[in-house]
Amino acid sequence: MTSILILGAGGQIADQAIDLFLQETDVQLTLYLRNANRLKKYESNRARLVEGDVLDHTTLRESMEGQDAVYANLSGDDLEDQAKAIVDAMESTGVKRLIFISSLGIYDEVPGDFGKWNNRTIGEYLGPYRKSVDVIEASNLDYTVLRPAWLTDYDEIEYEVTEKGEPFKGTEVSRKSVAALVVKLIESSDLHVRGNLGVNKPNTDGEKPAFY
Ligand SMILES: NC(=O)c1ccc[n+]([C@@H]2O[C@H](COP(=O)([O-])OP(=O)(O)OC[C@H]3O[C@@H](n4cnc5c(N)ncnc54)[C@H](OP(=O)(O)O)[C@@H]3O)[C@@H](O)[C@H]2O)c1
Repeated sequence: MTSILILGAGGQIADQAIDLFLQETDVQLTLYLRNANRLKKYESNRARLVEGDVLDHTTLRESMEGQDAVYANLSGDDLEDQAKAIVDAMESTGVKRLIFISSLGIYDEVPGDFGKWNNRTIGEYLGPYRKSVDVIEASNLDYTVLRPAWLTDYDEIEYEVTEKGEPFKGTEVSRKSVAALVVKLIESSDLHVRGNLGVNKPNTDGEKPAFY
């Protein structure tokens, strides 16, 4: 049976992914978050809760033991330090597979007017996102980095991906779509290993996301 550690399990994409994991797979989940009370509803023989900060190295390392894969759904100015903590804990416990959520724009890969708008709107926040991905890519882990477009809460699964080095496509994508891709990557262990993917909803090109 596959065991997955979800870091930042109280986050919004993670919330969608937990539902999909429970409904569509038989994986065992360890839900790691700073306030475990928030996910009490999930506690069961399929899901174990761990209260912890990713920067709490001892708790992180203990939670890593025996896992088959890690899905990191994190945020914050200290994302680079969080990435270092994850790589250290995975390397010391021998866990290889990592799915890491980042953001569009970290390589200035978003073309055209939307790229300029995106840079003006969130560019100043992307430094830690870029540095954290640099840390992951410098590791020996079997990582897949996902760089979602602007996130929506639409109840739909519809996405396409672009590879690192290609221009980003589209402007938006649903959290449920990103969650579905996370589940697919966990289920097919060799898919996009050491990959770094832009994720968008097809045919959403424009100067900014339609909902904005
Ligand atoms: N909004 C967009 O359009 C967009 C587009 C592309 C990418 N993204 C990025 O994609 C990522 C996932 O999106 P989302 O909507 O799921 O984000 P989210 O709901 O903000 O989830 C991020 C989670 O990270 C947790 N976290 C932060 N630092 C932590 C730490 N040191 N230890 C443990 N947990 C920590 C937060 O926990 P707490 O609840 O305890 O604070 C939060 O639950 C985010 O980084 C987001 O910025 C966003």
